Amino acid sequence: MCGIFAVVNDKTNNAAQTVLTGLKKLEYRGYDSWGIAIKSAPSTSEVDGGQKLVIEKHIGKIGDAKTNLPAGNTAIGHTRWATHGGVSDANAHPHLDCTGKLAVIHNGIVENYLEFKEELIKKGHQFSSETDTEIIAHLVEEKIKSQPITQAVFTTFNSLIGSNAIGVIDFDSETIIACRNGSPLVVGVDEKNQQYFLGSDVPAFLKYTNKVHFLDDSEAVVITKKGIRLFDLKTGKEKKLSIQNLDWKLEDAEKGGYPHFLLKEIMEQKETIGKTASINEKEIKELAKLIKEGYKTILIGCGTASYCALAGKYFLANEGIISQNYGAYEYLPFSKFADKKTLVIAISQSGETADTLIAVRAAKKNRAKIVAVVNARGSTLERMADIVLAVSAGPEIAVVSTKAFTAQLATLYLLSKAVENKYDEGKKLIKNLSESLDQIFTVQSINRLIDLAKSLIDKEHIFVIGKHLNFPAAMEFALKIKETSYLHAEAFAAGELKHGVITLIQKETPCFVLASKDDVKGEILSSAAELKARGGRIIGVAPFESAEFDEVIKTPDLGNLTIFANVIVGQLLGYYLGIGRGADPDKPRNLAKSVTVK
Ligand code: G6P
Repeated sequence: MCGIFAVVNDKTNNAAQTVLTGLKKLEYRGYDSWGIAIKSAPSTSEVDGGQKLVIEKHIGKIGDAKTNLPAGNTAIGHTRWATHGGVSDANAHPHLDCTGKLAVIHNGIVENYLEFKEELIKKGHQFSSETDTEIIAHLVEEKIKSQPITQAVFTTFNSLIGSNAIGVIDFDSETIIACRNGSPLVVGVDEKNQQYFLGSDVPAFLKYTNKVHFLDDSEAVVITKKGIRLFDLKTGKEKKLSIQNLDWKLEDAEKGGYPHFLLKEIMEQKETIGKTASINEKEIKELAKLIKEGYKTILIGCGTASYCALAGKYFLANEGIISQNYGAYEYLPFSKFADKKTLVIAISQSGETADTLIAVRAAKKNRAKIVAVVNARGSTLERMADIVLAVSAGPEIAVVSTKAFTAQLATLYLLSKAVENKYDEGKKLIKNLSESLDQIFTVQSINRLIDLAKSLIDKEHIFVIGKHLNFPAAMEFALKIKETSYLHAEAFAAGELKHGVITLIQKETPCFVLASKDDVKGEILSSAAELKARGGRIIGVAPFESAEFDEVIKTPDLGNLTIFANVIVGQLLGYYLGIGRGADPDKPRNLAKSVTVK
């Protein structure tokens, strides 16, 4: 949800290009428009008389964009997911003050911007956009009349209501000042070249350094050629940076020969699922102990993560544990029942989803213990949690979640096995699952999915059914198709069919039936038969053949873990349907990877 990137003391003296390249890595956060502001080098000072920041903004995706901005070694840039103000060049960030010497980039929503805007207009400030962001530039412009720039940015930021992260470039001092409250920010230090970076996420500057400091809420940084200074926004006092070395490799944030990040990340699951099973043992066992002690267990998440939460509920039920699950956005009415004997297991790839954080804050207020099942590191959720299960699937760049989902699912499965005192067995089964996935990724099986995708390209509706563990799998299967190909795909619990949904089934309506060799195999096949009787085209996704299926995508028989393979078939199908229907599989329209607003 909006990407922020900046560089100070760029060693190539082509900071605009460095920012553009970094923004491409952040495009998953929003791709309505992009823009860059630079302090041009003295040799190019003829631009704007050399006394103002030089700015470039465009609507649409960055794609293969090039920039004609002048040379310089300090620049900021932004990729936007529009909230206030339509998608236009004027509303694209950075936003300038009236002097053209200050520019602001922003991620979040300034809830009280209208009050400020009215006051500023009365004082004679000229606005060029409809955004909430622009007031920040004008507020700082007002304050620097009586305060040093750093102070002016800090006090301005402290007066904003809402979850926000900002970056401000000051022409005169050639400084970048960034503040965080609720929206992510991270700085990177390239000691060798003495260049410094600011980003919403690490992949933007992973090419230069893996030495990072994740800003906390109420922290600010002041970045100059001399380095990065950290401040507490509440007290104004300087703090010590706590630099950590991330074990992420550059290849993790590159496509590595694949046409899209999505395909690369789907394929990576052969390794990432197994890797997850080798970590977090101590934390998982600690958590299992609390569950066995009778803690009330609540699983929450949004989108894909919510289906992971739902699957977790089934895994735990299989081990005799009752739990509840909610889409995090629906949890608030129930948060009043949380107490100190409640465990809230919050699942999130990014750890920054506003709806999930709001739910977690509400539970925390009632003294619930918070467990974060997260992929991205250094996130707000991770910091709010009492127990962190970092699933370590590596950077997930495609907007839709794939490898983070299966890593989170594997973690919840291991938790359920730990509850049963069979952690080691669970670990073995997950490792075995990883190896069995090869079966889905053979050339033959991929070609079969491509042919299937071709046959579905012009359909209007696809239905997906599943029962018990295959119900959350069906939900995720359908979500992948919707998100990646814009085809209407709807999932239902098989049992729900005859209570209404069946009216939608006509001759040749594609119906996917997700199944495993479990104790409800017979029931799901009866549902398949009901669909078939109405003329539906029945496509089984299961480790067996059946007379009820018109065709079948065979998945490996992995007991309860078959759902992993069944979902991966949906991921691949979504990908190829997306390609066939002309969508961008990495950046589906209207979505953002990390939705940091309510
Ligand atoms: C957005 C994305 C979804 C994602 C959801 C939750 O809506 O478009 O693909 O599943 O956020 O994200 P999280 O980072 O909390 O897992």
